[in-house]
Amino acid sequence: MKKIKVTDDNRLLHGGDYNPDQWLDYPDILKEDVELMKAAHTNTFSIGIFAWAALEPEEDKYDFDWLDKVIERIHSIGGRFIMATPSGARPAWMSQHHPEVLRVDAYRRKQLHGARHNHCFSSEYYRKKTQEMNTKLAERYGDHPALLMWHISNEFGGECHCDSCQNNFREWLKNKYNNDLKELNHSWWGAFWSHTITDWEQIESPSPIGENAVHGMNLDWRRFVTHQTIDFYKNEIKPLRELTPDVPITTNFMSDNPEFVPFTALDYSQFAKEVDVISWDAYAPWHTDQEDTATLASRVAFLNDHFYSMKNQPFLLMESTPSLVNWHDVNKAKRPGMHFLSSMQMLAHGSDSILYFQWRKSRGSSEKFHGAVVDHDRSKDNRVFKEVAQLGKAMEDLSDCVVGYQRKADVGILYDVESDWALNDAQGFGLKTKKYGETLQKHYQMFWENNIPVDVISKETAFDPYKILLIPMLYMLSEETAEKISAFVKNGGTVVTTYITGLVDEADLTHMGGWLKPLKEVFGVEPLETDTYYPSDRNSVVYNGKAYEVRDYATVLKLLEAESLGSYEEDFYKDTPALTKNTYEKGQAFYIGARLNDDFHRVFYNELIKTHDLKPALEAKHNRGVSIQARKAEGKQTIFIMNFTEESQTLLLLEEVTDCLTDEVLGGALELAPYETRVVEKRI
Ligand code: GLA
Ligand code: ZN
Repeated sequence: MKKIKVTDDNRLLHGGDYNPDQWLDYPDILKEDVELMKAAHTNTFSIGIFAWAALEPEEDKYDFDWLDKVIERIHSIGGRFIMATPSGARPAWMSQHHPEVLRVDAYRRKQLHGARHNHCFSSEYYRKKTQEMNTKLAERYGDHPALLMWHISNEFGGECHCDSCQNNFREWLKNKYNNDLKELNHSWWGAFWSHTITDWEQIESPSPIGENAVHGMNLDWRRFVTHQTIDFYKNEIKPLRELTPDVPITTNFMSDNPEFVPFTALDYSQFAKEVDVISWDAYAPWHTDQEDTATLASRVAFLNDHFYSMKNQPFLLMESTPSLVNWHDVNKAKRPGMHFLSSMQMLAHGSDSILYFQWRKSRGSSEKFHGAVVDHDRSKDNRVFKEVAQLGKAMEDLSDCVVGYQRKADVGILYDVESDWALNDAQGFGLKTKKYGETLQKHYQMFWENNIPVDVISKETAFDPYKILLIPMLYMLSEETAEKISAFVKNGGTVVTTYITGLVDEADLTHMGGWLKPLKEVFGVEPLETDTYYPSDRNSVVYNGKAYEVRDYATVLKLLEAESLGSYEEDFYKDTPALTKNTYEKGQAFYIGARLNDDFHRVFYNELIKTHDLKPALEAKHNRGVSIQARKAEGKQTIFIMNFTEESQTLLLLEEVTDCLTDEVLGGALELAPYETRVVEKRI
């Protein structure tokens, strides 16, 4: 795979979404912007994201003069720009004259012009117009020395149910099922409730998914939506690849919000293959009353590692807020110090940038109160601006020991969005307690607490680089993946799985004849039935002499070759195995049958870390809530020591390191103020 360095001059990127098109009537603001950009120690701006109406005010009449000036101003202060293609929002004249660009929702209602991210991915006209626009942008700015990369559209997502999208769906299905309705009906289990399809024209997209009983169809629709979105994106980048083959391309990915788990509207594992650099928009609900800062920090870490692992290379933080957002239920300001800490965490996990939405708060419309570097007061003396500038200064000083440095993990945790789709569709188990993303984050957290890096991988990733592979709740598991797991364990790997794993195949059809043979062999058990609990139900599992609480799920197991490490204490499966270990060829396989609490996970995974001799980048003793993460280069590593608690923390460093910002040599006791970060260097 071609490795792309996300910054070309070894600078960490600092800046963000800049919307000068909102301020064309305010020349003093545009002039002031560059002064403030310097003062904020910023160097990179994403421009043009929603500027279509300014770039093409009338059909086929373009105006790039204002953009030329903006780019020259940024260039004059040594800044760089990330050129966005404006397809995330259309001008009103387009919706007026070419209504086919408007999206149709799952109930077949055509949307009116308004909001954004609401175009049809199949519209021939829209595809033609985006190509024309992108060609013009590439011709005009492709050779500009300050151009850093392309930012395609914005936060791709959503779906369209118009007639052309329906037709494309049918074509996609014909291709997938070899033009054979028999194959399709088998895969969709069409005989159920008389859903047998006898003519391709009978196929309509789910309307909506939650009300459609044919799960195989829902799954295929989601796959098609990913395919169609990527196809639209590929159409957009065609002129860019032709005219600017050396300029990297990205598009900004997201998480599912406000849950803050992996994004589920598209299959990013497929999309990632088509971009040169991964970038994502992180809006963690810092200071929420739902969980403590350390737990949230570990979930942020999980998402960062997810994006790093997609291409196993540094990524960009394309958007974040320096202060608050405007769309959480409660939009709380980052407390003093949190901006620095949360930004350092991004760098620690492999980002080569801290970019914001937004540079300047808009004056009107829905984002006028969303956090920004420059507030309505236009001042550089307010708290937020000062914290941004302080971070920018530190990033300038840290560039040399961060940019391009890699991450490396011995542990992989598998996230599969297709399985997530199918599990959520499944009418079974607890409808509200499945929580696949959150469950993965809980398992991941135990490694994070021990400062052991973890890759968040897909089922297509090679498993062999890892010592430990975690596959919690992998509901959909094909024979191919089962064989891959088996080969991994045969060769000495350790695998851990849980309840609700391996129940359906890639068509969302249940496996017949019990659990898949390779899984039975590897784990040495057979799951017999899974009991689902009411919120007030409890059970417990005794492990190493201590009882741990069970909630939500308990799987009854039949032991084959495995040994039982813990049994249930209650119910009709009292004293039967809940937790097992099997030695299979050179490796080991653990099955955790019940949803156990953090205390259990802590003990269980601490032991696994010990027996596998996994060591953190820096030997240190500290309380929960301090995180130590490393990025490595030839012969050295940069280590971030971060305090995600509201209290001062004293660490005991068992090795000597040098502070990257102060050159101070550190060893022994190290005091960290609340939310403080130290970045240190260690030779290896
Ligand atoms: C998204 C969008 C931005 C902005 C922010 C607000 O990430 O890409 O344009 O709306 O949300 O948080
Ligand atoms: Zn459509």
